[in-house]
Amino acid sequence: MNNFIYHNPTELVFGKGQIARLAKLIPADKRIMITFGGGSVKRNGVYEQVIRALEGREVVEFWGIEANPSVETLRRAIALGKERRVDFLLAVGGGSVIDGTKLIAAGLLYEGDAWEIVLKGKAGKTVPLATVLTMSATGSEMNNGAVISRYETKEKYAFYGDYPVFSILDPETLYSLPVRQIACGLSDTFVHVLEQYMTTPGQSRLMDRWAEGILHTVIEIAPRALAEPRDYAVMSEYMLAATLALNDMIRMGVTQDWATHMIGHELTALHGLTHGATLAIVINGTLRVLREQKRGKLLQYGERIWGVTEGTEEERIDRTIEATERFFRSLGLSTRLSEEGIGAETIAEIERRFDALGAKYGEAGNVDGATARRILEACL
Ligand code: NZQ
Ligand code: ZN
Repeated sequence: MNNFIYHNPTELVFGKGQIARLAKLIPADKRIMITFGGGSVKRNGVYEQVIRALEGREVVEFWGIEANPSVETLRRAIALGKERRVDFLLAVGGGSVIDGTKLIAAGLLYEGDAWEIVLKGKAGKTVPLATVLTMSATGSEMNNGAVISRYETKEKYAFYGDYPVFSILDPETLYSLPVRQIACGLSDTFVHVLEQYMTTPGQSRLMDRWAEGILHTVIEIAPRALAEPRDYAVMSEYMLAATLALNDMIRMGVTQDWATHMIGHELTALHGLTHGATLAIVINGTLRVLREQKRGKLLQYGERIWGVTEGTEEERIDRTIEATERFFRSLGLSTRLSEEGIGAETIAEIERRFDALGAKYGEAGNVDGATARRILEACL
């Protein structure tokens, strides 16, 4: 096991009716800015619950943080927050609203342009933020990462801000999600685990078993979550699985990959494809192209997750990768670039971008422009 420091300060407040606790959770003297997406919270009653809970408090609302939040929109939120001297942020929405709010939290205490914070990769001082989660996928409600787009240049990069002070997770807020969002959320959760698991074997039995526990859970609940999104027990497991998949817990002392995500972000930046949908495609290419490097873990994952125990090692790896692709297809997602109308031109552009950035992603630092091209070609 490698050395590590684990410190996750986010207080999780989980379950039905917990939005009512907001008034107690946010100190009384705070000037709050509440941030929202495009309006789903008005249709499903979450907005009303939040406003009721904060009745009588000093509150300013900011609407319109889009899916794949843009620095262009967030600059406006930062200007408003500075004008109103906001000193507490409450993000009500999915990963996009939360990520965008992480940039607002940093931007409120930064003199220059917010995009500089993204390019630096790390925020300085931040205003405290909390969340009411309405879409489970990213883990943003319990981590310090955020991914911000710049529409003008079709770029999308991650930076590290601060962890939410608290996050309210009420599975009932997920009832109104469209099936495709749930599919993308399950895909994102699954791939978050693979990015931290499908690397070097023999680093930690404990991390492996936790990761495998989340993978098994996602596979078991997926058909129910898609068919019956108002089943409280199922949505509870989905919600918690997504949070635990990316809250630092399963990566203690082990190497990580993240190449699939970095390639996926480019597909979103260039084509607007939803995050979880990009991963359902790219992960298959990553596993095919890097099968030698990931051999030990692929065999373990095949046996423990998909029950693949028969045949030569090569046959077992083939069947494991096929089972993985079948899983993403069972979510109703594409697993090939061609199904999304994406081809050679985009692959060449991503190779060019990775080369320009000097990219060396993955647990072995070997996913550069040329490897990204091979990965993308393997999922044409
Ligand atoms: O904007 P509204 O109207 O709220 O609609 C949203 C949005 O259109 C809708 N939605 C959310 N909750 C809903 C709902 N619709 C009905 N009922 C509800 N309860 O769903 C749409 C998608 O929401 P979004 O927040 O974009 O989804 P997600 O949570 O998947 O976030 C995706 C973003 O997070 C980034 C992605 O790259 C992408 O930009 N990620 C953030 C990470 C992190 N911070 O750690 C890690 C991830 O790997 C990921 O990169
Ligand atoms: Zn992700």
